Parts: sequence; C-alpha cells; structure tokens
Amino acid sequence: MTNNMFFIANWKMFGDLRALNSTKKVIKISKKHKFKKIQIIYCPPYTLINQFVKNTKNSKIKVGAQNCHYLDGDGPYTGKINSNLLKSIGAKYVILGHSENRAEGDTNYIINKKIKSALKKKLKIIFCFGETLSEKRNKKTSSVLRSQLTKCLKGINSNNNIIFAYEPVWSIGTGIIPRIDQLEQKIIYIKKLIKKNLKFKSSIILYGGSVNPKNINELKKITTINGFLVGGSSQNAKNFIDIIKKTIN
Ligand code: PGA
Repeated sequence: MTNNMFFIANWKMFGDLRALNSTKKVIKISKKHKFKKIQIIYCPPYTLINQFVKNTKNSKIKVGAQNCHYLDGDGPYTGKINSNLLKSIGAKYVILGHSENRAEGDTNYIINKKIKSALKKKLKIIFCFGETLSEKRNKKTSSVLRSQLTKCLKGINSNNNIIFAYEPVWSIGTGIIPRIDQLEQKIIYIKKLIKKNLKFKSSIILYGGSVNPKNINELKKITTINGFLVGGSSQNAKNFIDIIKKTIN
C-alpha cells in the first residue's frame, strides 16, 4: 500500500443530523499522527454539506458533493445544484460519473460537461467509471472503460484535480468484489489508458464497490491502488474507521 491513501465516503441518499454526529469519531482519529498521510473525504447528501464543512474545520478532512449540474452559473433549474453553489458552502470535491447517476441519464457527454464546469469553479473531481454486469459478460469491459475515460475527459488537459475511481457496477452494493488478480490487471490497464489515451503522466486511482471491513485486507494487497471509495460501509463510523485502520496497518 502506498502511504498517501484516499478514503472517500459516499453516503448516497442516506444521513441526517444524527448520522453526522457519529462522524465525530472519524474526525478525532484523523488528527492522530498515524493518519498523517491519509486523506478522508466525506460526500454526504447536499443537505449536510454545510454542517459537515463546519464540523471538520479544524481537521484535514475534506467535504464533497455527490453530483452537480453541468452549468456553473445560476439559473432557473428547479431542484438542481451547480458547482458554484457547492463551492459557496465550502465543498472542495464533487463525485461525477457515478453509475447511479449514469442510470438516471448522465451520459459520457453530460459527465464531460459537468467535469469541465466543476473544474472551472475549482472543485476537485472524483471521477467514477466502470462496466456493468452485462458488459462484463459480453467481454466489453476494456472498450467500455476506454470509451468512458476518453469521452468523459475529452478536452481536459490536466488531471491534477481529478481522482479516478474504478467502480465495476456489478460490485456496487452487491457485496461482490472482483478477483484480486483480475482487479490488479484492470488497474494496470486503466493506468495505461490514462497515460496513452489521455496523456496524463501520473494518476490517483481508487477502487470502489462493496469495500467493507471484511474484504479490505484482500483489496489492500493491490499496491497500485491509491485508496477506496466506500459507499454502504462509510455510513457507519466504526466500519469506516476499521477500513482505514486495516488499510494502513
Ligand atoms: P458500495 O458503494 O460501497 O455501497 O458498494 C460504492 C459506491 O457506490 O461508490
């Protein structure tokens, strides 16, 4: 495992003010010397971002959103949130390209527009990509990953503010993770794509999909992974801390 590890908590559509209180333990732990080199990023629902930013003010935990609109200027779009509004309440990151948003209509083209808009407002991007089960079964994984990476990042000439999160869709929320040797191969392939097709020299690559305290010892064996995007298991502070501790121990 490399030292500078990222642990991103994607709370999805869960979490109220009580849940926020439970993160105090994580904030406390993040200040310990042992955790000096890790970066924790919380992506709660929009409703908690502001409070999260306040609570984590004296720690190095950062806060992000789970999505945003592709327009960076304000406008008459009922129910939508743009990068400008996120920035104004202290969010530093935004998750874009998540399969749950792709399933609701986010195409590679729209994701590309969202990434450009968020970068313009100086938000950092947690860019998710990954194949579905049927794409995997039809041996389309490589071409799908290539297409998502090249289309979503078209016209972007630096990845300084982008974290890549490989999330096989069939692994999200299912309790199933890829075979370690196969995941290792995928990460090598993704790194090559990023270098060759996108011309970015180095990249931060995370794995996401059913990461939990039980399988983390297996997943952490892949030394080329720079951290984890954790959904379900991040909503429980004890599980999230367990994942972090096991990874760096
Ligand atoms: P999961 O979600 O850990 O619950 O599988 C991961 C994600 O969707 O980012």
